[in-house]
Amino acid sequence: MQLVGKIGRGPEAAVPVGENLFSGIKRLKEERNAVVLAHYYQEPEIQDVADFVGDSLGLAREAQSTEADVIAFSGVHFMAETAKILNPGKTVVLPDLAAGCSLADSCPPEEFRRFVEARPGHAVVSYVNTSAAVKALSDVICTSSNAQGVISSIPEETPIIFGPDKHLGRYLVEKTGREMTLWPGTCMVHVLFSEKRIRQLKVRHPRAEVLAHPECEERVLALADHVGSTTSIIARAAESPAPEFIVATEPGVIHQMQKLAPEKTFLRAPGRSEEGSCEACSECPHMRLNTLEKLYRCLDDLSPEISLDEDLRLRALAPIERMLEVR
Ligand code: 13P
Ligand code: SF4
Repeated sequence: MQLVGKIGRGPEAAVPVGENLFSGIKRLKEERNAVVLAHYYQEPEIQDVADFVGDSLGLAREAQSTEADVIAFSGVHFMAETAKILNPGKTVVLPDLAAGCSLADSCPPEEFRRFVEARPGHAVVSYVNTSAAVKALSDVICTSSNAQGVISSIPEETPIIFGPDKHLGRYLVEKTGREMTLWPGTCMVHVLFSEKRIRQLKVRHPRAEVLAHPECEERVLALADHVGSTTSIIARAAESPAPEFIVATEPGVIHQMQKLAPEKTFLRAPGRSEEGSCEACSECPHMRLNTLEKLYRCLDDLSPEISLDEDLRLRALAPIERMLEVR
């Protein structure tokens, strides 16, 4: 694949003559002593140039341990912000600063503060898909990989507030047996999968396993053979003897699944028909704002850079560190 950026300083990258975006990014990584961390929902070519590809927990751990001076975070804002909270002395850049998260946006800090203040004595467990300001109001953070362990680390007698994803929250109540007060947030991507159309697809592919992320609705999770974080469902696709899979999460994960199990077939779970059924429906519009050109450019300019008020950073750091201590 020959990927050459445009000449000139427009919204696209300017790659020197004789270089393509892949070789340009490699050169810039060396010049800047930079590491590229990418989430599984990124475009395949971004995953292929990254030094580490992972889920939210893996990326936070990688950000915690890197010795690079610059972290180019190909993911969404809360992920890059978490990397900055863990690494105040490093430059953290995000290819597109507009790459937000509908779930994080569904939990405004002031409203969440009132929600928490109205429930004294509760432990506040927040999903990592939140702003630093919401993290700062929390006792401990979790991701879809470690949520059950994090919840189990809270004393039985302590009531829990969980936010912001109500579907993940309901799934965790079922899994852990703990009653939790849930913030009513959702992910715009995962709520669109259609139970009815997945059932129809299963009729045509009877040997297919359904793999789902816990941000999906309960009726979709009820159809799943395996529910888990992006890392967990990629591992299941590789390990399972099934020849076909219906994937109910952002389809960026299919790139790694195909690499690990090229002989298997991976089908995107369909969205609700009333919402349309285009191939791109399940692509996260925030994650997909990042491109290889923008990654090149942010490494070149060291911009856009993530910055944080130090007092807020310290308040958001404590619950992240508590999470990272839970094994
Ligand atoms: P994972 O932590 O499972 O990768 O999920 C991140 C995310 O944004 C899900 O929508
Ligand atoms: Fe946020 Fe949903 Fe996109 Fe994940 S898929 S980053 S939860 S909007």
